Amino acid sequence: MSIGLAIVGMSILGTWGAFTIAMIAGGIILIAAPGDIETTSSGLAGGLFLLIAGLISGGAMQTVLGPLLGIDPPLPLKAKDNIPHDKMKVWENAGSIRNFPEGVVKEVRLRTVRVAIIRVGETAHALGALCPHVRLPIGSFPGMPLKPEKIRDDCVMCPFHGARFDITTGKAVTQPFTSEFNAAHPFLGRLQSKILFWNKGAEDIQTYPVKIENENVIVGLPR
Ligand code: FES
Repeated sequence: MSIGLAIVGMSILGTWGAFTIAMIAGGIILIAAPGDIETTSSGLAGGLFLLIAGLISGGAMQTVLGPLLGIDPPLPLKAKDNIPHDKMKVWENAGSIRNFPEGVVKEVRLRTVRVAIIRVGETAHALGALCPHVRLPIGSFPGMPLKPEKIRDDCVMCPFHGARFDITTGKAVTQPFTSEFNAAHPFLGRLQSKILFWNKGAEDIQTYPVKIENENVIVGLPR
């Protein structure tokens, strides 16, 4: 991508974001303090209009920009949508096995698919990079202080809310927000379990077939 195009893109995004925040903030202010408007009811109506318009604009930003920025909508992934291995006919090279840390998730993008690779000795496992709970990356975000932990008992733990998955079968062996996780993580656990009250379950995660050839990790993907 050229620098000029990147600058134009950032300008559009910045203006859109600032406009969205301004509408939401203006709406809240008008609802909370409509006194300067001629009548209180028109202030309230204007505030509500701005707030709703701002939220719609924010939702549109998430829908349009989320996938471009690698941010997925916080909706659960269903195990019934997982693709079986016999449909994985395209093999992609994820790189040398030496590039993957032992027992810790490292995310790669193969074609357009986000895949979490976990090296175990001289072999490796490949899972969907997004946690089925609310689609946050099980390898965390690059540069974020929250780091994925080393696998334990052949299971990988999503660092966000503590769901654990078998790295061979993808089976969800521990659900998010266990009392142990919540006690150790007041913000990600205790607080967010209240915010995500509508969804506290994680279904099985997608797995991909892996073979090692000449020390390279080769991952099977759907067509
Ligand atoms: S996103 Fe993984 S447990 Fe919530």
